[in-house]
Amino acid sequence: MPQKYAQISGWGMYVPERVVENDAFVKLGLDTSNEWISSRTGIERRHVVAADEATSDMALRASQEALQVAEIPATELDLILVATCTPDHIMPATASLVQDRLGAKEAGAMDMNAACAGFVYALSTGASYIESGRAKNVLVVGADELSIHLDWKDRSTCVLFGDGAGAVVLQGANEPGVMATSMGSDGAGAGLLTIKAGSRYRHNGAGAGTNGANPESDYYLRMNGPQIFRWATQMMARAAEKVMTGSGLDASDVDLFIPHQANYRIMEATARRLGIPLEKVFSNVSDYGNTSAASIPIALCEAISSGRVKVGDNILLSSFGAGLSWAAMAMRWGAEIPTHLPRFRPIRHQVEDRVAKVRSVIRKGEWRVRTQIDKRIRKED
Ligand code: ACO
Repeated sequence: MPQKYAQISGWGMYVPERVVENDAFVKLGLDTSNEWISSRTGIERRHVVAADEATSDMALRASQEALQVAEIPATELDLILVATCTPDHIMPATASLVQDRLGAKEAGAMDMNAACAGFVYALSTGASYIESGRAKNVLVVGADELSIHLDWKDRSTCVLFGDGAGAVVLQGANEPGVMATSMGSDGAGAGLLTIKAGSRYRHNGAGAGTNGANPESDYYLRMNGPQIFRWATQMMARAAEKVMTGSGLDASDVDLFIPHQANYRIMEATARRLGIPLEKVFSNVSDYGNTSAASIPIALCEAISSGRVKVGDNILLSSFGAGLSWAAMAMRWGAEIPTHLPRFRPIRHQVEDRVAKVRSVIRKGEWRVRTQIDKRIRKED
């Protein structure tokens, strides 16, 4: 008998080591200030990837931590969903790279792109797989490195974003869990927030002009900030209201509201519209900026580690992003919170990591040998 509900049973996050404080933008020569950025957005610093650090690297670290908390090996995963708008490549999917490096040999893997709303979209999809009985263990990751798409001369965008990853494991349960979800899109507003071209490996301009792409400027994130701001304050509240109604919760029943961490003023305005007091709103935008699909799972991890989540709590998630797209979820928290996570990865998990690495090397070797044999046979023909 499939269990009727999906519950989060593991969680993990990763942010790159390098921290960029607001003052760095002034040093870069931009006409801005720490005062403007922190008062207009709530952001004080953000983490930025190293040159050789890709979305899949961050996703892997967050996923390993989530599996450790859930106490399941990667081999038991049925499905891996990676929400990202900054995949390592256009193809293969970043989820497949994570699947290989985790050694999740039984899992299907796919990316989902709903920009900053992607994680709640993926969480909702993962929950449906569990609720329908089609999957038992689903890994949902939100990971983005928008810093590689920032025009560091454009003060209206480059100060807003940071990099990171968050992951959760979803498993079946007899009690909720996920109570209600809502997703929406308004593609007519697509032009308000775009990255028109490229993945992390910026193309060298070949083909530019033939397809109308401008290899320099189309690679950057472009945004009409004030329009997005006004729309987001309404949309996040509307999406949240929908799932509150769907789950029979009113504002006073909500124990914790985790909105998409884009701008503290958007979060404040949304909470005000919903009638949720600010003490119940979790925000860590000051330390990370807008990490896109990673923002909600990173905030969830920090809410848990700071003691803001306990069994039985009603948690509300609401997000918005490019697309335009939005998604919300109401859930009741069911997982016991471990009193402490070991500082070092337990031996069992270290062994699993090693086995996954060896498996990956062998599989890659197999593919190389097959390709060589195939080439030879073709030559002989
Ligand atoms: N420093 C100084 N001035 C700045 C800066 C800066 N870093 N950035 C913009 N400004 C200026 C603009 O140039 C403009 O100047 P102008 O009026 O002379 O043209 C002015 O500030 C705009 O001022 P406001 O209208 O008061 O700005 P606002 O309150 O709207 O704040 C902001 C701007 C922070 C961009 C805001 O609009 C915002 O947060 N929008 C939402 C953006 C967002 O969340 N996007 C993420 C979507 S999720 C995803 O899918 C990636």
